[in-house]
Amino acid sequence: MNREPVAILYEPRINYLNLYRLNLQVYVSAKFIVCRKFDDLVYEIKNNEVDLILMNLAKEEKTDEKLKKINSMIQSKTEKPICFVQAATIVNYSELQVSDADILVKDIVSSVAQKMAITAKHMSELQVGEYYPISLRFVMPGWQVAQAIYRKKKDNSYSVILDKGLLFTQVFINELGSDTDIYCKSIHRLEIINSFTATIKSILDQSNLPIEERFEQTEIAFELITEAVGVIDLPNEIINLSRATIRSMEKIVVQIPSLASLYRSFVKQNSSMRFKHSLLMIYLGQFIIQKQSWNTPHITQQWTYLCFFHDIALDRDEYLDFEYDEDVKNSDFSSVEKNLILNHAQITAKLLADVKDIPVGLDVLIKQHHGSKMGNTLSGVSMSISPICIIFIMLENYVHFFLSKNEAPKTTKEITNFIEDLFIKFPFPNYKRFIPFLRSIPIKY
Ligand SMILES: [Fe+2]
Ligand SMILES: [Fe+2]
Repeated sequence: MNREPVAILYEPRINYLNLYRLNLQVYVSAKFIVCRKFDDLVYEIKNNEVDLILMNLAKEEKTDEKLKKINSMIQSKTEKPICFVQAATIVNYSELQVSDADILVKDIVSSVAQKMAITAKHMSELQVGEYYPISLRFVMPGWQVAQAIYRKKKDNSYSVILDKGLLFTQVFINELGSDTDIYCKSIHRLEIINSFTATIKSILDQSNLPIEERFEQTEIAFELITEAVGVIDLPNEIINLSRATIRSMEKIVVQIPSLASLYRSFVKQNSSMRFKHSLLMIYLGQFIIQKQSWNTPHITQQWTYLCFFHDIALDRDEYLDFEYDEDVKNSDFSSVEKNLILNHAQITAKLLADVKDIPVGLDVLIKQHHGSKMGNTLSGVSMSISPICIIFIMLENYVHFFLSKNEAPKTTKEITNFIEDLFIKFPFPNYKRFIPFLRSIPIKY
């Protein structure tokens, strides 16, 4: 790599913007141009040599008109940037990677690294100097810094402006001025991500957070955790954030008055399938788990953790579409991806086996959440798995049905038929006995 990548970002959601910038900066030392308006985006693309364009048009009008414009601008460039777009369209654009779901940090970082020939070795050997610049524009009020933050003085020396452990306040950020760079010691730059993580955690921990904001922050945390699991195993920061996220999901489930309003929130936030899936499992599960004579607070907690973690290793919505091994094997995914899909239960169970302070026995439940004892197949049905897992499997079937046909509302007749069919699909006594509980789930659209 002979120069730093330049990225143009157009993302109205400030938290996502921060997440993208932090990761791009820390992993590939990218430089940024952030655009607030679509016209600015056009202007910047035209006037810069750029390596990456990231834009979110999910909430915009005339999407295709805009996509067409950006596409032809890229076509006319000699050095073409990678362009990730979040938007709803059925048109194919040769230069754009369009998805209607959130763009994954991991995908962006790895494709930029590939384009610029940046390797992990390169990053670790990168001569970044003793101090590392962070643009103040992506500092959020409430961010507690994990290491001291510095300012560069006129004589090029550095002085501490915020000691380790202190918080950025809105007043302080305003005082510094939005175009300033602040600095941390270069050896601490990866910790920046972790302290950012901690900020989201503390927002989630606020007891009186309005439900809409809670929903939004919870989903951001959920996505961040999914990203982190793939890239860096499960460091303590992520486990702590997971706990806060689970608590926050529990609060959502209690506060949300009905399935219909939960669903409206999903639509409003344009939630990922994985988030919907986990939160629906927690929400609907309560109607069944609470009716079991063997339920205890520990079981209820196991249930929530199971719903949260079971598919956490699957970082793409498309990986969720499978019910049988054969379909995975015949799919177009790479062998690495196929292996991940088939073994995700076992992989996640292993990741969690050594983690302290999570419900005892969770790893076993996760391993068995597709019905096999070892967690290495989607198709196996074992008779000797935990009853919690059996409920889980029944409910997963139900949630898949619920979200099927483009998530169209289901009629009472469709629901009844679906439940009846489960008796045929699972003709085993210890499975069958839980099916009637599905009938009592209150569905109101
Ligand atoms: Fe699942
Ligand atoms: Fe799964």
